[in-house]
Amino acid sequence: MTTYAVTGATGELGALVIDALLEREIEAAAIVAVVRNTAKAAGLQERGVTVREGDYDKPETLASALAGVDTLMFISGSEVGQRVRQHGNVVEAARAAGVQRIAYTSVLRADTSDLALAPEHKATEALIRESGIPFTLLRNGWYIENYTGQLGQYLQAGAVIGAAGDARIAAATRADFAEAAAVVLTGEGHENAVYELGGTPFAMVEFASAVSEVTSRSIGYRNVTLDEYKQGLLAAGLDEGMAGFLAALEANTAAGDLDTESEDLAKLIGRPSTPLTEAVRAAHTA
Ligand SMILES: NC(=O)c1ccc[n+]([C@@H]2O[C@H](COP(=O)([O-])OP(=O)(O)OC[C@H]3O[C@@H](n4cnc5c(N)ncnc54)[C@H](OP(=O)(O)O)[C@@H]3O)[C@@H](O)[C@H]2O)c1
Repeated sequence: MTTYAVTGATGELGALVIDALLEREIEAAAIVAVVRNTAKAAGLQERGVTVREGDYDKPETLASALAGVDTLMFISGSEVGQRVRQHGNVVEAARAAGVQRIAYTSVLRADTSDLALAPEHKATEALIRESGIPFTLLRNGWYIENYTGQLGQYLQAGAVIGAAGDARIAAATRADFAEAAAVVLTGEGHENAVYELGGTPFAMVEFASAVSEVTSRSIGYRNVTLDEYKQGLLAAGLDEGMAGFLAALEANTAAGDLDTESEDLAKLIGRPSTPLTEAVRAAHTA
């Protein structure tokens, strides 16, 4: 029996990857949820998933967390700026434990992208390649939930406000990315493959239309300058560092760094990505 491990299993994507593995008839007993806080994982334990402590900052926990694991879903950490060191700990523990394959959640065109988040993913991809462990790179695009998570603010403001202009954004739902991950984890022929994963592209004006349709409100897209965008974030209470970082990401978005014409996601999941309107509706009714 192949043993699978999923890091970041108490996070949003990790939980969905475990759901997708179970839906693909992988037994709960064959899944190890690697989490830094086991108290958050009681629900997983109740479902029969093995829960082990594994903190990217504590190599000793990673060694025991990955013992006996064949196939590792390595979900990138959330502490921007710390991740190359942390991810190096995970890769080294996987190598020492004899893991047979690592699937890693990277970002679109990690090796060439100007995206502010790309350098840590590029460096992690290099560490994985250098480890000699067979890999599958899941270069995920943006989550639609990055936008639908702000539905309440859009409705309050009466508009979607951004500085992305008419750039196309090939975002997809976390559930679609999780399904693609489960496909490559459980399937054959994904060794050393690099997948550029994106959904059906949309511009923010189309996103605003989807919000209008679902909420029966007239919500437009108001494009502002990057400076106005950053000032808006500061006025909303974000600190200078975070506002600057998010403004840089918005500039990346405007430059097309979140777009892809790749069909890899639809090919892996065997269907088109979840339609934008459906994703907005799910957030609206949640
Ligand atoms: N494609 C996109 O649009 C997008 C957007 C945001 C992030 N991301 C990337 O995709 C990853 C997964 O997304 P998500 O939505 O599932 O994020 P999330 O809900 O924040 O999950 C991140 C997971 O990483 C775990 N983690 C963070 N630091 C860790 C450490 N030092 N040791 C062990 N585990 C650690 C967290 O543990 P806890 O549960 O204990 O907090 C959490 O389970 C993110 O971490 C980030 O790298 C992608």
